[in-house]
Amino acid sequence: MSRIFSGVQPTGNLHLGNYLGAIRNFVSLQADYECIYCVVDLHAITLWQDPAELRAQTREVTAAFLAAGIDPKTSIIFNQSQVPAHAELAWIFNCVARLGWLNRMTQFKEKSGKNKEAASVGLYVYPTLMAADIMVYKATHVPVGEDQRQHLELTRDIAQKFNNDTGKEVFPIVEPLIFGAATRVMSLRDGGKKMSKSEPSDFSRINLNDGPDLIAQKIRKARTDPNPMPGPEVLTPDGSAIAEDQLRARPEAFNLLAIYAALSNQPIASPLNEFAGSQFSAFKQRLAEIAVEYLGPIGTEMQRLMADPGYVDGVLADGAARAAALAAPVLAEAKDALGLLST
Ligand code: AMP
Ligand code: TRP
Repeated sequence: MSRIFSGVQPTGNLHLGNYLGAIRNFVSLQADYECIYCVVDLHAITLWQDPAELRAQTREVTAAFLAAGIDPKTSIIFNQSQVPAHAELAWIFNCVARLGWLNRMTQFKEKSGKNKEAASVGLYVYPTLMAADIMVYKATHVPVGEDQRQHLELTRDIAQKFNNDTGKEVFPIVEPLIFGAATRVMSLRDGGKKMSKSEPSDFSRINLNDGPDLIAQKIRKARTDPNPMPGPEVLTPDGSAIAEDQLRARPEAFNLLAIYAALSNQPIASPLNEFAGSQFSAFKQRLAEIAVEYLGPIGTEMQRLMADPGYVDGVLADGAARAAALAAPVLAEAKDALGLLST
């Protein structure tokens, strides 16, 4: 049986990278799979969060899930801290994962920065909690953006070691689902960096709750290069992607083209054919129109839901109860495999 699990942290504004890399795919997977989508508040507190902000952001991510089209009746939507089984299995996984494995995690290196001694222990074991999130439901597939691939590899290693050590096939080996025209959306200010919640400049990203004027302004100001727009000659021989050397030479241009393709549901070849040789200004104007048309209704629906926290909290409570019921037998099985008595 296939089961989908994924999580999004309630930290800072959700942006177009979160949407195209993850949330949009969450929506499309609902048609074919049992899906569990989690607002990972315990991951958020690996870095200090203002409590009032954390509460508001948890509701905002939930509102974004709902506004994007996740159905809380067919799928499960909840926040992680309401289901204690995640933290319990994470402890078990802390005893399975090896220091050497965690030392290789690039996200820890990035987030802890220069002063590793001052990072929280939680930030270091962040990936074991992520593995527990997925495995406590025996989820088989995890839709994420490209940046989470390494954490999913670790999840596989932990599951495998647990199964080997106990001699029981408790956990499945998870598959990442990384798909869509924009699995790694880059910053609008610097094509070498991914679009991120933590980037200081708000003009580096398009937030899901930005109004139409701001979206258009951000796209107008997005960095490009002095050359005319590239054409279909930059594609790989099979026509499905941009050739690596081309991508490296003009990252900002191809980022905007990928966003265009993703938001208009077209292959990347379409905007390349349409805008080849022209200036960026006409393309940007069209991109702004498409972005406003696509994101406007999502932003409006988010605002509406944010004005009704009672409803949003009800969705989370209902989801948490259903998630807890699925997690309980898996946690019991894991404990039993280890010889942890429960009476
Ligand atoms: P986070 O905000 O770090 O919790 O990320 C939530 C989801 O969005 C994860 O699946 C990430 O892989 C995805 N994501 C975050 N930033 C980007 C980006 N710039 N491009 C594509 N996917 C992203
Ligand atoms: N680490 C993920 C991110 O930063 C969020 C996350 C936590 C997650 N637990 C997960 C994603 C489980 C997928 C599955 O984006």
